[in-house]
Amino acid sequence: MISVSFLKSKYNCEDTIALIDKSNASLIHVDLMDGLYVPNKNFEINEIMALLKNVNKPIDIHLMVNNPLIYIKELVKLKPYIITIHLDGTPNILETLEFIKRHNIKVGVAINPHENEHIIDNYIDQIDYVLIMSVNPGYGGQKFIPDVLKKVNYLKDKFLIGIDGGINEDSIKLLKGYPIDIIVSGAYICLSDNYNEKIEKLNKMV
Ligand code: DX5
Ligand code: ZN
Repeated sequence: MISVSFLKSKYNCEDTIALIDKSNASLIHVDLMDGLYVPNKNFEINEIMALLKNVNKPIDIHLMVNNPLIYIKELVKLKPYIITIHLDGTPNILETLEFIKRHNIKVGVAINPHENEHIIDNYIDQIDYVLIMSVNPGYGGQKFIPDVLKKVNYLKDKFLIGIDGGINEDSIKLLKGYPIDIIVSGAYICLSDNYNEKIEKLNKMV
């Protein structure tokens, strides 16, 4: 499944979201950054709510924020398919994971490139999805870090697995043979004029 991130695009956010929504992507990947957990900040919560309120595709939310529960309490109104948090930005981890689960949303945890896959060990029963970051979070259009793929072995058969960052028609070749359920791709698709052509290229490679 391809989940398309609109962090870096040729067009403005509204137009990019509309294009993703019309495309053959399986999910729309929503990166929310607060300027604290990562140096970059993109939207206020009310802005992202307005941008997404009419989206038809399943929404895959990736929170790169400190204290994500504050945002999640609002975001559940969008009935997203997945909400993914970073544990090191979350003061009340169990409460946050259980809040997501109670709303029948898949519970995701992201693992940064420098973080060990065992950081999730205390929360295995609460987690549905692990998002392996293949770039340092904060910016679209960075280079894929192949080393992170060694984390898949431990995570497979336990969770749905996603990979996020630097995916294009070259780096996707490195995913061959890995049981990855959701592939997030941003700049490769959204800097092009033909989203479906790029999505199809990625789908053909896995
Ligand atoms: C990085 C974000 C990613 C990123 C993906 O902080 O979480 O979702 O925007 O986009 P590309 O494919 O451009 O790396
Ligand atoms: Zn992301």
